[in-house]
Amino acid sequence: MIPYTPNLDQLLESIPRALDDGLIPARIFNDPDVYRAELERLFTRCWVFLGHVSEIASPGDYVLRYIGEDPFILVRDEYGTVRVLFDACRHRGTQLCRAEKGNTSHFRCPYHGWTYRNTGEFISAPAFRAAYGGLDKTQWGLLPAPHVELLHGLVFASLDPEAPPLEAYLGDMAWYLDMLFGLDPDSLEVVGEPHRWVIDANWKTGAENFAGDDYHTVFLHKSMWDVGAIQIPAFENLKGYHIHAHPGHSLSLSMAPNEDDPGPKFWGFDDDVVAHFDPSRMKPEQFRLARRSRVAVGTVFPNFSFLFVPQSADPKVSPPTGMMCLRVWQPRGPRRMELWNWVLSWKHLSPERRHHMYRTVMGTFSPSGIFEQDDTEPWQSIARIAGSAFARTRDLRLHYGMGLPGIGSARVVEDFPGPGTVFWPRYEEGVQRNFYRGWFQAMTNGGDG
Ligand code: FES
Ligand code: FE
Repeated sequence: MIPYTPNLDQLLESIPRALDDGLIPARIFNDPDVYRAELERLFTRCWVFLGHVSEIASPGDYVLRYIGEDPFILVRDEYGTVRVLFDACRHRGTQLCRAEKGNTSHFRCPYHGWTYRNTGEFISAPAFRAAYGGLDKTQWGLLPAPHVELLHGLVFASLDPEAPPLEAYLGDMAWYLDMLFGLDPDSLEVVGEPHRWVIDANWKTGAENFAGDDYHTVFLHKSMWDVGAIQIPAFENLKGYHIHAHPGHSLSLSMAPNEDDPGPKFWGFDDDVVAHFDPSRMKPEQFRLARRSRVAVGTVFPNFSFLFVPQSADPKVSPPTGMMCLRVWQPRGPRRMELWNWVLSWKHLSPERRHHMYRTVMGTFSPSGIFEQDDTEPWQSIARIAGSAFARTRDLRLHYGMGLPGIGSARVVEDFPGPGTVFWPRYEEGVQRNFYRGWFQAMTNGGDG
């Protein structure tokens, strides 16, 4: 057998057929050519999540964030406008931000001292008249991301001047984000700093897991059920919906069997939290779906995910209760990603309750979290295998076929109240195939996947 390593174009050409067959080439999880194309084609084209407005609550607040590997300053300017500015001095390209966050009226470059207002406007430079007298200052402000939009306090940006509006980009996923983040949006806020840590795995592995890899929970995370960290029985938890939105975005919902079920509702949030949820903010069918939902996990293509789940970091001390976190799978190389994890809570809760939510996330989904320890080891080995000579020369294809016609028990739900293509139960890998359809389209400038 002659070893065969397809080039990038051959690899991409093979993707639509492979997806129809429920196959994904292992190589995409550790390959320099694929990775470079992702940075230059995909991350410059998509809408990317940067942070939550509560992180920049006051004029002058800023945080340093990334689109692909490129640094951007997310700042609330002195007039209160949220801006996303390329963190690069217009003189020689030096990075301006030396801190991950802060509050400032101006950004001054450490090299020659060019100075910009927090709106991005170029203000001045040392010995301006002698050095630059006559220069048109209006042409030398910091470069803004072409598009910035907010959705229920979540800040997204796109580097593509031709990008569709965020709502169009989200497609059917917008209906579900309204349901998840629109219940009490003005009270939502980030607790503490986002956790950040680096692992030797490809960014897509995290994104596709949160798109709805519920199947792994009953096996890899079995110990969490054994210690009582989760109330919902493991296999019961697979009863729910997989929702495929506009190619790339996916949502997975574990559902209570009916509205009278005594188990967790509204993702296990306590009654005083639920009392603040406002049904008038959404359609009745959205509110009813939220009420019956026990777990929600999903991915907005390419690398933003979220998790709403009732659980406990220490069930001997406190019973499972609702928690929420936001995720970014930050690319840092073909086989390296930085995980970002934000803990969300509500402003109206006491400091003790907010702290409890924070500790629950810390003990489960964080660098020190038990779920995280379980997940990241196999994720790292996927990248190792993807880069192996044997896998590359055999063009190893991996199985993503659960839920294809004739495989497994998942079926399309015809009378679902929300948009998108919906399957029941969650024994289904169409959410991952949907993610890779979005990936193929972004990598091929809208190719038909
Ligand atoms: Fe920024 Fe020169 S590189 S002032
Ligand atoms: Fe997991």
